[in-house]
Amino acid sequence: MKNILITGGAGFIGSHLVRRMVRNYPDYRIVNVDKLTYAGNLENLRDVEDAPNYTFVKADICDEKAISRIFEEHKINAVVHLAAESHVDRSIADPLSFVQTNVLGTVTLLNIARHFWKDLSGKRFYHVSTDEVYGSLGQEGFFTETTPYDPRSPYSASKAGSDHFVRAYGHTYGLPVVISNCSNNYGSYQFPEKLLPLFIHNIVTGKALPVYGKGENIRDWLWVEDHCAAIDLLFHKAKDGSTYNIGGWNEWKNIDLIHLLCRIMDQKLGRADGESAKLISYVTDRPGHDMRYAIDASQLEKDFGWKPSVTFEQGLEATVEWYLANPEWVNRVTSGEYQKYYEKQYAGR
Ligand code: NAD
Ligand code: TYD
Repeated sequence: MKNILITGGAGFIGSHLVRRMVRNYPDYRIVNVDKLTYAGNLENLRDVEDAPNYTFVKADICDEKAISRIFEEHKINAVVHLAAESHVDRSIADPLSFVQTNVLGTVTLLNIARHFWKDLSGKRFYHVSTDEVYGSLGQEGFFTETTPYDPRSPYSASKAGSDHFVRAYGHTYGLPVVISNCSNNYGSYQFPEKLLPLFIHNIVTGKALPVYGKGENIRDWLWVEDHCAAIDLLFHKAKDGSTYNIGGWNEWKNIDLIHLLCRIMDQKLGRADGESAKLISYVTDRPGHDMRYAIDASQLEKDFGWKPSVTFEQGLEATVEWYLANPEWVNRVTSGEYQKYYEKQYAGR
């Protein structure tokens, strides 16, 4: 019997993972712990909230007492840790909140796992991280599992710190840890502060599309469901102490991606060709903006046969369709209205 604590399960990636685990593993107990910051939204999980193997607890991962209670009550024997402050621009404005959740929160969780897991057999602490810990690439080369860490934003520095602590607990205390570092995700339920949902929303509402710098930065995009499939696989199959990179072999220069998005949006909205692209507006670059991320995911493919299940064109079209079909979700998260859902749905539970 697995009693899995998923942290950050009301966020973008977390909600996809919780849904997948609740549905695919009816004999597991899935306990979703989330602080419900601006980025956590229980409406993302409506379709599983009444499942018999699912429990939600509102708590901060930095709150040692609250998390210890959850470990005790649910006899937690595995953790999949996603809770984090996740947006680079916010980390530039307020680095300390990133240290608080991403570093101190992770160490708090590690301490609690160590405390409760006296017998380590059958236990697993799976830490979900980012390729941004490796820094920035030039035009050539890829990040591999052995690329030295070189974080350059407060966000990536805090994630690198959390990765180091997870590995240190593996080496020092023998905690059975696994880490994966993934490239940029896209898909439904992503908070509209990140590039794709922000630009989809702005195109729909006729607002400017703020392209940082010259739009020449490169990101490697992966459909969120493919990321979750890789986490599921590694959670069950990876060896203790291992690290895997997860990526889509799918690099796009920002400006090319934005033009592709504009073309899809023109089609879907029945607008004339080139209409959405008129909204493109070049703005001051992000300070310290990493130039290129690109993942070599061949280890994951070699060891476990994992491959992305959709092409980027398929995934992007499905993502656009989801946002167009769910304007009320976007309106509620951008206005803060969604936070009332928790009060209404979970009051007294
Ligand atoms: P997100 O911002 O959408 O969600 C983060 C979730 O964590 C939210 O539900 C939030 O309420 C919760 N949270 C924040 N602080 C918390 C705290 N102190 N205690 C409990 N819960 C808290 O983020 P995401 O994009 O879903 O990313 C999830 C994880 O995956 C993060 O660890 C991130 O670093 C990593 N990651 C993200 C990407 C990406 O492209 N989005 C890529 C690779 C790795
Ligand atoms: P983002 O979605 O914030 O992810 P990350 O910074 O973690 O890669 O940004 C993706 C790329 O898009 C990144 O190069 C910054 C750029 N960008 C813009 O040009 N304009 C924007 O308004 C945003 C949010 C991002």
